[in-house]
Amino acid sequence: MDNLFVKTLLDSIHVLATVLWFGGMFINFIVIRPSAAKTLNPEMTGKFQKALMSRFRIIVYVSIVVLGITGIPMKIVSEHYVGIVNFDHIWGVISFIKHLLYGLLVVLAVLNFEVLSPRMAKAAKSGNTAEASVWKKRLAISGLLAITTAIATLILSSMMRYL
Ligand code: HEM
Repeated sequence: MDNLFVKTLLDSIHVLATVLWFGGMFINFIVIRPSAAKTLNPEMTGKFQKALMSRFRIIVYVSIVVLGITGIPMKIVSEHYVGIVNFDHIWGVISFIKHLLYGLLVVLAVLNFEVLSPRMAKAAKSGNTAEASVWKKRLAISGLLAITTAIATLILSSMMRYL
């Protein structure tokens, strides 16, 4: 397990999953969603968002699993590793906080894909613009929270490297 090739492979896959998930989330929030809102009517926005989310959902769920599967062995081979939960060294504390943020991101992803997005699409499809805009607002709040948590996760991940 403590082999340069295996460690590099796991690390690269870990980073690739991060890029796909977080990169997609940032681009969706900063570029795609505002552009769709500017150019499409509410009904089309709902349809577009539904199609986009059903594809992005797969990428996110796969990334969640891949990050867990690659992160655990990466943690165990680390020179700082003592136990899954250990607060003797700051590395263990940061790692634990990162796990909590990971859990929060998973909850937010499920909330976005399984509750907020489908409800917004349903309201838009039925022509209920007022209800659709309420779900849209909730989706934006949850998206903003996910982006903030993602940035915090990246900062903690970088910090772990230099402790
Ligand atoms: C949202 C989920 C996660 C994201 C976005 C993420 C992202 C990252 C990134 C960007 C790095 C730095 C890689 C590099 O510099 O080459 C990293 C390192 C690491 N990650 Fe994750 N990670 C996540 C979840 C996890 C989980 C669940 C675990 C453990 C179970 C984990 C364990 C680690 C370990 C041990 C390192 C190396 C830290 C060090 O060098 O001391 N990660 N992660």
